[in-house]
Amino acid sequence: MKVGQDHYRSIWVEQGAVRIIDQTRLPHEFVVVTLDTLDRAAVAIRDMWVRGAPLIGATAAFGVAIAMQADASDEGLRRACEVLIATRPTAVNLRWALEDMAAHLAPVAISDRAAVAMARAMAISDDDVGINAAIGDHGLSVIREIAARNGGRAVNILTHCNAGWLATVDWGTATAPIYKAHQAGIAVHVWVDETRPRNQGAHLTAWEMASHGISHKLIVDNAGGHLMQHGEVDMVIVGTDRTTAQGDVCNKIGTYLKALAAMDNGVPFYVALPSPTIDWRVKDGVRDIPIEERSGDEVSFVQGKLADGTVTRLRISPEATPAANPAFDVTPARLVTGLITERGISAASAPALAAMFPDRVGG
Ligand code: MRU
Repeated sequence: MKVGQDHYRSIWVEQGAVRIIDQTRLPHEFVVVTLDTLDRAAVAIRDMWVRGAPLIGATAAFGVAIAMQADASDEGLRRACEVLIATRPTAVNLRWALEDMAAHLAPVAISDRAAVAMARAMAISDDDVGINAAIGDHGLSVIREIAARNGGRAVNILTHCNAGWLATVDWGTATAPIYKAHQAGIAVHVWVDETRPRNQGAHLTAWEMASHGISHKLIVDNAGGHLMQHGEVDMVIVGTDRTTAQGDVCNKIGTYLKALAAMDNGVPFYVALPSPTIDWRVKDGVRDIPIEERSGDEVSFVQGKLADGTVTRLRISPEATPAANPAFDVTPARLVTGLITERGISAASAPALAAMFPDRVGG
């Protein structure tokens, strides 16, 4: 999508080198980083230079490709997958991408593996772009219907975290319908949850919306319920890090509370997801999805820009106060209006998902 006048993806290959945008520096600085070793790719995922389920998957695929340039042996492939799978536990796209790469590379001669791996990582990236564009088209139909009922008033959409183009290779998942609506000339207005503790909404989604000239306002995480009670939210669209075979949705911490408020207020709650985010091996998300516990420092400190332009971290709690930091929560399927996938909009239920993905179910 657009950064100034230029078009960027969140990960790309330039003169043979894999490049990413360091998302820990946004919105204040736009810094491009080269990933040239397996360990650097792993750090990029672990320390969230890149983040968001689909982009984590794509980066892992490129991480394997980079590792194959140094050691394309079976042992090298095994080690690359082992190092990368240990970076973050919740987004299932990581496991999906590594299994895909391992399956593609295992039968390939060692001398060919580096080239085949790079081609496969690029194909995974390109597929993600196509999938998200299709999600955008399906989600657009929902926005269109609401716009028609609104009689000209802008469609108010609330989103949580960043499920934008920065979280994928391009388009985003939750943002794809928003970008498509904007392109189609439908008036949309986005309520951007700041998304404590790391503020992906304030730092990333707000930056995306501002870069594309989409009407938006930043709100504190606790404002959504109030806005819904007063008719100021027409729909919620969020992304997901892992959705189970029965439609339970794991996403950034706080998503569950938005879904409860949406249900109480009759506001449709949609989840936009590419099919690699479906974990067909898990049914009960609350019980079986591993929830990443991150450093309490992410809660005790905030990052921001001082008046003199310096970007810094500030402590907001007493030094003696420990912090807990579960990074994700699970929204049970019963609270989800629909799952917007690349094949269409599915009910959040095992039969509906199986009917939409008969070729994947049980995989
Ligand atoms: O911890 P993050 O920033 O990787 O979490 C990202 C999210 O929770 C996104 O909403 C999710 O990955 C969907 S991204 C298209």
